[in-house]
Amino acid sequence: MRVAVIGANGQLGSDLVEVFSNDKDFEVIPLTHKDLDVTDFESLKILKEIKPEVIINTAAYVRVDDAEVYPEKAFQVNAVGALNVARIANEIDAINIYISTDYVFDGTKGEPYTEEDTPNPINVYGTSKYAGEIFTRNYSPKHYIIRVASLYGKAGARGKGGNFVEWVIEKAKRGEELKIVDDQFMSPTYTKDVARVLREFLKIEPEFGVYHMANEGLCSWYEFTKVIFKILEWDVEIKPIKSSELNRLAKRPRFSALRNKKLERLGLKMRPWKEALREYLKEKEHL
Ligand SMILES: NC(=O)c1ccc[n+]([C@@H]2O[C@H](COP(=O)([O-])OP(=O)(O)OC[C@H]3O[C@@H](n4cnc5c(N)ncnc54)[C@H](OP(=O)(O)O)[C@@H]3O)[C@@H](O)[C@H]2O)c1
Repeated sequence: MRVAVIGANGQLGSDLVEVFSNDKDFEVIPLTHKDLDVTDFESLKILKEIKPEVIINTAAYVRVDDAEVYPEKAFQVNAVGALNVARIANEIDAINIYISTDYVFDGTKGEPYTEEDTPNPINVYGTSKYAGEIFTRNYSPKHYIIRVASLYGKAGARGKGGNFVEWVIEKAKRGEELKIVDDQFMSPTYTKDVARVLREFLKIEPEFGVYHMANEGLCSWYEFTKVIFKILEWDVEIKPIKSSELNRLAKRPRFSALRNKKLERLGLKMRPWKEALREYLKEKEHL
């Protein structure tokens, strides 16, 4: 299967390229921002020459707080970009995979969201990603919308300048105080696991539609931080705080954990987040 990965040097994109390249069933064409810009339809015409059977679109504007100040930038990449990719995918009859987010939900459900729950984003980033989902669904009939959550991976998020795990480790190394919110719950997810499960998912050729793909389980950011240092066996003091104390520009859903209900029905499993975290810490040679 010929797979084009957009955002190939990003946090998720780089693991997709690595994991798919190690499987003889796939031929991977990595595409970075230099190769094409999803906001520029003309530049996407390169895909007509590449002729992939599958396009995985990981390109995104991921800066959640900045998106409140520059909504047009977030919408340009996450929504118009998704529309452009959907149009070209449809033209070349490729399967279009749009990577989306748990932030499409408002966080009021109080238990993990399934694919049957209705999105109701509460910030610009989430709204722009939901718009991207709708464009994907309505302009490329052969699509998968894959919702992931709270990603961390070897490369770190390019758009955010790293990932949360590295951020807390660096702060601890510098001896800085760690104040972490304990009133926001989510499903921390290792990008390598998304890549591995997405690879098996494509082999099954499931029905088109929306799928959740997050590591199993949930925790607050505070608990996540505690577990990072417990695995590392570092004695680090972590202070739990409320999200309101951070005065961030964007509202965050209080509870955005995902349940991979449709994945489970296919017999595919994302492992528990603590197991995935341990492997990540080994991969980064923290362990
Ligand atoms: N990070 C998270 O916690 C998280 C949580 C839930 C969902 N997601 C979703 O997961 C996906 C991957 O996120 P990530 O953490 O891997 O982010 P990332 O490391 O910032 O990767 C995004 C990639 O997209 C590229 N890109 C940005 N704008 C582009 C454009 N206009 N045209 C073409 N390429 C462009 C970036 O390249 P340049 O840097 O060179 O511009 C980068 O390679 C995104 O769709 C995001 O919305 C992320």
